[in-house]
Amino acid sequence: MTAQASKQDALEPVAVGTPVARTEGPLKVRGAAAYAFEVPADDPLFLHLVQSTIAKGAVRTVDASPALAHEGVVAVLDHTNAPRLETGENAELQVLQTPDVTFRGQVVAVVVAESAEAAREGARLVVVDYDVQEHKAELRGGDEDSYAPEKVNPAFPTDSSVGDMDRALEAAAVVVDETYTTPYEHNNPMEPHATTARWAADADEGPRLVLDASTQSVHGVISELAPILGLEAEEIRVRSPYVGGGFGSKGLPHAHDVVAALAARANPGRPVRIALTRQQMFALAGYRTATIQRFQLAAGADGTLLGINHEVLEQTSALKEFAEQTAVATRHMYAAPNRHTSHRLVTLDVAVPSWMRAPGEMPGMAAHEMAMDELAVACGIDPVELRVRNEPEVDPESGQPFGHRKLVECLRTGAERFGWAERDPRPGARLDGDWLVGLGVASATYPYYRQPANTARIEALTGGRYAVSIGAADIGTGALTVLGQIAADALGIGVADVDVHLGDSSLPPATVAGGSAGTASWGSAIVEAARTFRKEHGASPGVGDVSTGSPADNPAMDTHSLHSFGAQFVELGVNVWTGEPRLRRMLGVFSAGRIINPTTARSQLIGGMVMGLGGGLLEESVRDPRFGHVVTQDLASYHVASHADVRDVEAVWLDETDPLTNPMGSRGIGEIGIVGAAAAVANAAWHATGIRVRDLPVTADRFL
Ligand code: MOS
Repeated sequence: MTAQASKQDALEPVAVGTPVARTEGPLKVRGAAAYAFEVPADDPLFLHLVQSTIAKGAVRTVDASPALAHEGVVAVLDHTNAPRLETGENAELQVLQTPDVTFRGQVVAVVVAESAEAAREGARLVVVDYDVQEHKAELRGGDEDSYAPEKVNPAFPTDSSVGDMDRALEAAAVVVDETYTTPYEHNNPMEPHATTARWAADADEGPRLVLDASTQSVHGVISELAPILGLEAEEIRVRSPYVGGGFGSKGLPHAHDVVAALAARANPGRPVRIALTRQQMFALAGYRTATIQRFQLAAGADGTLLGINHEVLEQTSALKEFAEQTAVATRHMYAAPNRHTSHRLVTLDVAVPSWMRAPGEMPGMAAHEMAMDELAVACGIDPVELRVRNEPEVDPESGQPFGHRKLVECLRTGAERFGWAERDPRPGARLDGDWLVGLGVASATYPYYRQPANTARIEALTGGRYAVSIGAADIGTGALTVLGQIAADALGIGVADVDVHLGDSSLPPATVAGGSAGTASWGSAIVEAARTFRKEHGASPGVGDVSTGSPADNPAMDTHSLHSFGAQFVELGVNVWTGEPRLRRMLGVFSAGRIINPTTARSQLIGGMVMGLGGGLLEESVRDPRFGHVVTQDLASYHVASHADVRDVEAVWLDETDPLTNPMGSRGIGEIGIVGAAAAVANAAWHATGIRVRDLPVTADRFL
């Protein structure tokens, strides 16, 4: 298969590529966009969760009487009286079914009340008694209980091996052999996880269950919940027109969604509302596992890599396995004839980890790019040049050609714009007032995913307007807007003549707003639907004419290694008296295929970079090993980068179109912005001070 033969039938870009303002912006700014907890509901009940105070054991008794005596409390559901669920593979969703406790913070009861306040006070009054068992809640290097999962998220091989790493180490003139650690991190979207649920009072009134859920995938909620609720998919409707961020934590339904459905079932006809508190999100919404990563880089004296070994130890939860794919990006990054990657998990009695922006690439590339910086120093080679020198001609493990690999161009463009040539390679050489100043660089990468299971529908309206419908989700990314641009070009009309409808499972099926694959997947379906529409209805269709379409096959997905790339540059100051690290400048240069909308894209890329900056300097969830829960469970103690931390952050991209990915020529931009950013920060900190920090985040105490 040649590149030519697998080219995607390209869309002629007119609206695509222009900075169209967010379609729903005015509604959000005016507070007129209703989020899941705010949707209109008649006489709603409110829920508040009671969470286990032990890490492992069983609920012996639940005394609900003090709560039930409180004014406004309607009911307390626990494992003895909650509606039964069908069994299912996703143990996280088997809520209130057994007395078993597998982590501190798990849902053991829910209070149903006439007001949010009464529910919360009721939850405080419920008395739960436990049989306590010993637990394990700490990830330690060298853990003898670690195991190899069958695969790592979402379906990559656990290990990889090419050539002979031992011989590479023997033959090498220079070896870097270090261990890097990355912390637990928690998704903190602005909108907490929330659901409003209503169970039909009688069988004739439409869907049995309607969920207004804050989710990245309305159809994903149904495919998870319908089987355990004993319902057909058509009997549930899920809506999420507006979502205040997700970062992966809303990619799958969580326990609170099930609790809402159960409480609604127990109170048919009455809507029930639940919103997690910020504190509860640290136990019930997924998070990024901590990692312990050993990196061995074996190189010749000129920095040419002979071998790469990346061994990852990380944790999962006893309740449900999640294996972060931390070493997978390493398989595609740099040329080296001898290669080895592996993932090992330790099962802990802790909350269930899940997706958090660039799961795998974020922690894995942090370690890889810190190790590359150490290799550059050991070889006396400029860090940009070291990366260029190890650029592979084909994917180093699959042997497939890369579709559109522009890493070198990103590095060169960034170095030029950032003034990299003026960097004195010696660490600690630049003092500006009370600040030691350093420059750091790191590469970024993210795979191109496109999900075929999407259908879009196009309908001609009056006045030359069109309705475009797909059950996709705009989680704050700009999806609603960019899909309108794609539809306009596919139909050959103006953006203003397209009404896009998303976020409702009654619309044609769509895959998750995840894997940076939303626009590529949904947009491809829209382009096909438009082509079908024009074929079926010609240039002057009648009002009400409808067509549907799904993404066409893309043979290049099987023949080429398709990834986005980027280069992150950071200028960091470290205060000589306090050790405080402060960002001074940051530049990301990305190759992500065609950029559909420069305004929303810049926001996505900068958002990722800022989150990566947080990963470099601030974000760290601290677990109390005695109880297994996260103690830094609010935004006062879990620090994310805020305005004062974010100075002069710029994202740019190469002007390009990827002929192998989809009709838009795009890849994805949701996640690549975070990748590499933390390493660029740590590398800049070394350059500023000469102190090598190998465990993130880079905090002030390291420099004192
Ligand atoms: Mo992203 S972590 O795939 O929502």
